[in-house]
Amino acid sequence: MSIIFDKTNKTITLNTDNTTYQMVIGKFDYLLHLYYGPKASGDMSYLLQMYDRGFSGNPSDAGTDRTFSLDTLPLEFSAYGNGDYRDSSFSVKNVEGVYGCDLRYVNHEIIEGKYTIPGLPSAFEENDEVETLKVELEDNAAKVSVTLLYGVFSKHDVITRTVVIENIGKDEIKVCRAFSASLDILNSDELDVITFNGRHGMERCVERVPLGKGAVTIGSRRGTSSHHHNPFVILCDKTAGENNGNCIGMLFLYSGNFRAEVFREYTGSVRMMMGIQDDMFEYPLGKGEKFYAPEAALCYSNRGFTELSHRYHEFINDNVIRVPENDEVRPILVNSWEAAFFDFDKNKLLKLADNAKELGVEMLVLDDGWFGNRNDDNTSLGDWNVNESKLGCSMGELSEEIHRKGLKFGLWIEPEMISEKSELYKKHPDWAYQIPGRGFIRSRNQLVLDFSRKEIVDYVFNAISEVIDNAEIDYIKMDMNRSITDVYTRNGIQNYGVIMYKYVVGMYDFIERLRKRYPKMLIEGCSGGGGRFDAGMLYYTPQIWTSDNTDAVERIKIQYGTSFAYPMSSMGAHVSVVPNQQTGRMVPMKTRTAVALAGTFGYELDLGLLSEEEKEEVRVGVKEYHKYYDLCKKGLYYRLTNPFENTEYAAWEFISKDRKEALVTVVTLDTHCNAPVNYVKMQGFDAEEVYKDEFTGKEYSGAALMHAGWPIPNIPGEYNAFQLHLVRK
Ligand code: DGJ
Repeated sequence: MSIIFDKTNKTITLNTDNTTYQMVIGKFDYLLHLYYGPKASGDMSYLLQMYDRGFSGNPSDAGTDRTFSLDTLPLEFSAYGNGDYRDSSFSVKNVEGVYGCDLRYVNHEIIEGKYTIPGLPSAFEENDEVETLKVELEDNAAKVSVTLLYGVFSKHDVITRTVVIENIGKDEIKVCRAFSASLDILNSDELDVITFNGRHGMERCVERVPLGKGAVTIGSRRGTSSHHHNPFVILCDKTAGENNGNCIGMLFLYSGNFRAEVFREYTGSVRMMMGIQDDMFEYPLGKGEKFYAPEAALCYSNRGFTELSHRYHEFINDNVIRVPENDEVRPILVNSWEAAFFDFDKNKLLKLADNAKELGVEMLVLDDGWFGNRNDDNTSLGDWNVNESKLGCSMGELSEEIHRKGLKFGLWIEPEMISEKSELYKKHPDWAYQIPGRGFIRSRNQLVLDFSRKEIVDYVFNAISEVIDNAEIDYIKMDMNRSITDVYTRNGIQNYGVIMYKYVVGMYDFIERLRKRYPKMLIEGCSGGGGRFDAGMLYYTPQIWTSDNTDAVERIKIQYGTSFAYPMSSMGAHVSVVPNQQTGRMVPMKTRTAVALAGTFGYELDLGLLSEEEKEEVRVGVKEYHKYYDLCKKGLYYRLTNPFENTEYAAWEFISKDRKEALVTVVTLDTHCNAPVNYVKMQGFDAEEVYKDEFTGKEYSGAALMHAGWPIPNIPGEYNAFQLHLVRK
């Protein structure tokens, strides 16, 4: 039993293997939060300290008791309009436009297994025992019921949360904010907030700031989770590091507009929230109608970021990414994009396939440019008919020939988009988002289809299925290359937030249908690289193209930031040409290979143009990928350096859970004359045991590797890579 209700003191306690979360049904049936931290027992209501505080009012039920105030109490789910002046997780408006809600506990239920959320991603029970807590809160004056759902994943030390809002009255109500998770923390320690921010081509850079009284707020209004902010936040001790300190993670399983907020209140307590972006969000609910919020996953560690990441990695691998994809070895691919861009035909592709086969690469992916009249990025999105005159054959013939060569075949799509220069636009200009009377905001010269409308999703699904049905497609790369604007629907509720929520649900529905119709097909997510890299997408697509930036040195930073929440095995990572097409940087092939080997491995270049020496590196890379597949997929990942701080070298490590085998990679980032020696300190080894490096035959004790480190050889040249494959003797 991981969920315990104590009838005497009215506490509800959620226990995972190493953590405890406690709430109490407090005075006047307000549901109060008490604790989230290392395993603890007993009634923790003593933590609540009541004072008469000026300008913090008292609900009428409290009579003349001036010490009971919702402005100062830790609330399990805060609502606007009951005297709590903090930013709250819920706001509702009645038919007259009156805001306000006063939620009280009604009942609760403890259920075996994990709840699900209609139309939205939701972690499932796998390799773990999961229990659900369902708590019903109600405001009978506002005529709203709020069901709080908690999924307790014991082994993974994760607690998922979501809310369901229901109109229990006759008149329409409008939900103006419904965050999925809200955590009021009673804590007077100095804390930091870590967020993962960036831009197209440089996603998820780690930013750490001290928590003050003002809020740290991040979010997206782009229709996707975005390159710019990621729906993942860590709140930690000021002194927390990779291996020490308390930290709480909040991860959102959602791929659209979101908002995350952390702030400290004047009483000292902290509030941390995550949910759908509430800007211009008014979700109308008629009598008996419900709104389902997406899921958030909370995780706590008192041993720093590494343990937090390990817990999230296992949780995502076991409980978010669905089998069978996660059990199958992902093929090494060569992608036509940086190899040929829009300039290809059958012969060029078959040549690329021959080169791939010769070097051991297992799949050819035909990227953008195979449909309509698409020879550049200004046209044809929406016209999902194969350009046979460009290719010189049908997709069926091409895929057959590629399979005959012993390779798998993959295809790029961008289903959510439409070009003005397209047959589809001629027929259905009203399918693109546009506000009547206004011009478009073009981006990459393309417009966005209204995926909140089922008939549009149906059309695109049928058109793309027609291509897949008539060819042998093993893999789909599903791209999305602009942020959304001009949000107006010609069929449905006219509210920005509602349309954007329904858009995401429509997009999920599209992928779910693809998954169902082609259960063996691997789908990789992409949004101009990593613009929709989130746990919601990972529920549908087990890997995501991490960034359009394929410069190995920049990728070290991007993969580092991404690794705080997401497993390495979900990160699309390819070797590309030098000078790099985005930055012009020259990086040795060995280093490019070593960096890409940390993710789902592949190539993004014309393999036929490689030198003999580089081809040999490809053969080595292919062998290494398979040799270390299980180690990298199932092992633990350690960030040995922070590339945002250490500009001399970067290092990371995969080690098996039984500590018998590890792969350590080191890349030098700077080069000096007569340089001092740098030592890389490794982690997670058995101190008492001896490990042999399979590359050099040298032996080291686990303790020496961890405490004294490994000296990086001083070899002339930029961006050298070193690898150690350490096997316990
Ligand atoms: C953006 C993607 O991230 C690239 O890899 C490529 O697929 C292009 N779109 C194609 O337009």
